[in-house]
Amino acid sequence: MAAINQLKEDGGIIIPRHIAIILDGNGRWAKKRGLPRTAGHAAGAETFRKIATYCKNIGVQYLTVYAFSTENWSRPEEEVKSIMKLLDNYLHEAIATMERDHIRMKILGDVSALSPSLRAEIEETNEISGRYEGFQANICLNYGGRAEILQAAKRYAADLAAGRASGDITEAGFSSYMYSAGIPDPDLMIRPGGEKRISNFLLWQCAYSEFYFSDVLWPDFGTDELDRAIAEFNRRDRRFGGVKNG
Ligand code: FPP
Repeated sequence: MAAINQLKEDGGIIIPRHIAIILDGNGRWAKKRGLPRTAGHAAGAETFRKIATYCKNIGVQYLTVYAFSTENWSRPEEEVKSIMKLLDNYLHEAIATMERDHIRMKILGDVSALSPSLRAEIEETNEISGRYEGFQANICLNYGGRAEILQAAKRYAADLAAGRASGDITEAGFSSYMYSAGIPDPDLMIRPGGEKRISNFLLWQCAYSEFYFSDVLWPDFGTDELDRAIAEFNRRDRRFGGVKNG
C-alpha cells in the first residue's frame, strides 16, 4: 500500500474511481487443497474483506463485486445455503463496521428472492449508507446484467405510461432505472480465476471499462495483484470512443 500511495501522492498513478470484480475460482481453490467448495467460498469472503479495506485505504471510491448471480441458484442446495449463510454473517458484521468506519454498502440485484433475514440486513445497510459519504462497497446478489436491464425497461415503460417519464429518455436517464443508479460506471473490471468472459455482469455499466484478467484464484487474490491491475489500468489509453488529445 505504501508504494501505491506514494506514487499517488507524486501524481504518478491514477487510482480508478470504481473497480468491479467478478469473484471466481473459489471452488478450484478448495479442490486444490482437498477441501469442500464451501471452504473456498469462506476463503473468498475473507479475501473480499481484505481487498475492500485496501481499496478504501488507497482511495478507490466504489468497489462492486459479483457474489451471486441469477444463475447460481442452480448449484447444489448445500452450496447455495452455505454462500447465503456467509453473506448473512458478512452483512451482520458489516453493519457494525459501517457505523464505526462510515462505510457505505449497497446490495445490487433482485433481493425479493432472498431470505427475510438477509432482506432485513440489506434494509439496515441501506439505511446506514444513506447517512454517510465516502467509500462504498456494492455486493451483487441474485444479480444478472440482462435481468437488470429488463427490470429497468419495465419500470421505465410503467413510468412512461403513467406520464411520469418523458418519451425521449437519455442514457443517463435510463441509468437511473438500473440497480446501480447514482453509482458511476466501473473504470476497471477485474476477473480472477483464469476465465475471460463477462458472465452477465454489469452489461450496461461496463461499456467503457478497462478489463484485467488474472489467473490467480479469488481466495489467493492479494493486494499485490490488485496493484498490478491498477498499474496495468494506468498503462491503458482510455479514449471513450474519441481520439487521443495532442
Ligand atoms: C465463484 O467461484 C464464486 C461464487 C459464485 C460465490 C462468491 C461468494 C462468496 C465469496 C461469498 C461471500 C461474498 C462476500 C462478498 C461476502 P466458483 O465457485 O465459481 O469457483 P470455481 O470456478 O473455481 O468453481
